[in-house]
Amino acid sequence: MSLKIVLPIGSLLLIVCLCAGPRPELLQASAQAAAKADAPSAPAYTQDGRLLYPARYREWVFLSSGVDMSYNPKAIASGQTVFDNVFVNPEAYAKFLQTGAWPDKTVLVLEARKGMEKGSINHLGHYQGTQVMGVEVHVKDEARFPAKWAFFDFDDQVSGSLFPKDASCYSCHADHAAVDTTFVQFYPTLLPIAQQKQTLSASYLKEEAAAQ
Ligand code: HEC
Repeated sequence: MSLKIVLPIGSLLLIVCLCAGPRPELLQASAQAAAKADAPSAPAYTQDGRLLYPARYREWVFLSSGVDMSYNPKAIASGQTVFDNVFVNPEAYAKFLQTGAWPDKTVLVLEARKGMEKGSINHLGHYQGTQVMGVEVHVKDEARFPAKWAFFDFDDQVSGSLFPKDASCYSCHADHAAVDTTFVQFYPTLLPIAQQKQTLSASYLKEEAAAQ
């Protein structure tokens, strides 16, 4: 079964990342990040409004890996397999299990990794390489953002820049995501909870009904 519906990590951004090759800054030992043991899982910002890198996201709750997902029905495979791994801070995950909704201070991380084919004993299929192609964050901070949620892009492991309100991230997530602008329809442990708690968005339910 091939899932070719929508593209994570912002279509453009992914292409830019791929063309530019792996970002060396992001390849730096994750041990370095893990060493920041006091890194908060709640969002924190620099004085000029950049989001601090969520250094321990690899220790958070894993939601899913999309492989070569694309929103464009006419998408042409680039030849380079890319995995996108989604993580959420544990406090928000626990709350979602109880309520089917994201609490304030939810931080969702999308990490793109290069798909590998040839290595060790592998003959068929893909596995994830050590190269991080990009990191993006979707954060819910009700007091800070008028629309409650905001998107950030990271070029290094220090701080990330805010995507402006008119970036395509916001409209695609608002129009197609299953729960509160997040793509819970692709997170297998969360979709049944949202169904049970009836927190699926009206736009998602409409799309699903139309697809029947
Ligand atoms: C055309 C639709 C579309 C656009 C545009 C888009 N995304 Fe997404 N996004 C998705 C889909 C689909 C997923 C689910 C990925 C998965 O299942 O692996 C996703 C997931 C995410 C996640 C994980 C958390 C969540 O909200 O589900 C982040 C972070 C994210 N996108 C950031 C961005 C950023 C930043 C941009 C803009 C540069 C962007 N996206 C643009 C479709 C889109």
